[in-house]
Amino acid sequence: MSKSVFIAKEIEAGESRVAASVETVKKMIGLGFSVVVEKGAGLASRISDSDYEAVGARIGTTSDAAAADVVLKVRRPTDTEIGGFKSGAIVIAIMDPYGNDAALAAMAKAGLTSFSMELMPRITRAQSMDVLSSQANLAGYQAVIEAAAAYDRAMPMMMTAAGTVPAAKVFVMGAGVAGLQAIATARRLGAAVSATDVRPAAKEQVASLGAKFIAVEDEEFKAAETAGGYAKEMSKEYQAKQAALVADHISKQDIVITTALIPGRPAPKLVTRDMLKAMRNGSVAVDLAVERGGNVEGVKSGKTAEVEGVKVIGYLNMAGRIAASASLLYAKNLLAFLETMIDKETKALALNLEDELVKATMLTHAGAVVHPNFAAAAAPAMGGTA
Ligand code: NAI
Repeated sequence: MSKSVFIAKEIEAGESRVAASVETVKKMIGLGFSVVVEKGAGLASRISDSDYEAVGARIGTTSDAAAADVVLKVRRPTDTEIGGFKSGAIVIAIMDPYGNDAALAAMAKAGLTSFSMELMPRITRAQSMDVLSSQANLAGYQAVIEAAAAYDRAMPMMMTAAGTVPAAKVFVMGAGVAGLQAIATARRLGAAVSATDVRPAAKEQVASLGAKFIAVEDEEFKAAETAGGYAKEMSKEYQAKQAALVADHISKQDIVITTALIPGRPAPKLVTRDMLKAMRNGSVAVDLAVERGGNVEGVKSGKTAEVEGVKVIGYLNMAGRIAASASLLYAKNLLAFLETMIDKETKALALNLEDELVKATMLTHAGAVVHPNFAAAAAPAMGGTA
């Protein structure tokens, strides 16, 4: 039973990641797939065409996508890309499905069975497929590296014959996956680190990394975590109390890294211009929430902006700035998911529509938008055949 995979070269500007590594190509070939990698797909992640060839992949062009049973990508395919895939192909990527109904309808119309990796449930079985975690972890690390580079002072305390350089004070807002890695990284660089979150579970995690936890710990805070482990949007009263506490704390900080997100909502505004103004000249803020509107007032998407004397870094796709590592982990996430679609006995591709991972991530199938979160928006045009 032949089955083929196509690894596309990403076409979105600035996307330096790739959906397969040498290791995952080797594994896919071991699983019986024939693998075609689009020429140059791995270059920005430091994987050459000959690296892929050495483990058995064929180097091809976009036209090879037409024959593929499975297409692996980083980003959702554009209309042009979709036009090059065969009907019935499985396409797996970070689909960014919210607010992109037309793009989902186009994938349905093309007959694609598409999967959105970021909808993977956060259950034990799917941990190895959790792209939000694998990419946020690296983004948290990279945020600190960018901050250190932009900060014109040293991070660790240095006692030298010529005098003492004080340790930088780093404040991390939002202690989820990215925030915890930012804390750990800043600590490794020798900074004095504090952090805040609205989820009580974060308190212990922050402390275990050797950072100081700062938060308004009232009754609302004690109930702020959802069953899924995510933050809720806090009340106006809580936000005001939080702002007062943060304003005082931030005025004594050198670097602020913000990572605060609430599922399905714009990012909470946590750092105001006045707060930035109170920081020392040459301070740095890195806003990892910029893709969802940002946590920092005045942040500019994709740029470093000077706001009230503070360098506010708003780079998009922070994981893409550490592409060689990000691609390795992302490729492994994809492979782990793809493996669940292979029948153990026949070794054929066998999609189990009842599998909870499939149900949670499948956007389109058999000509329709099938995911419950998006099917309604697409309903007037679709027959709903799944
Ligand atoms: P996220 O990216 O949605 O949000 C980042 C952080 O911002 C969260 O910790 C959130 O509580 C915080 N936040 C939201 N509003 C805030 C505010 N107003 N002020 C301060 N902080 C605020 O979250 P992420 O990183 O995806 O993780 C969420 C949770 O899921 C964590 O507890 C994490 O440990 C857990 N998790 C569980 C996994 C599993 O069970 N397999 C895998 C990955 C994460």
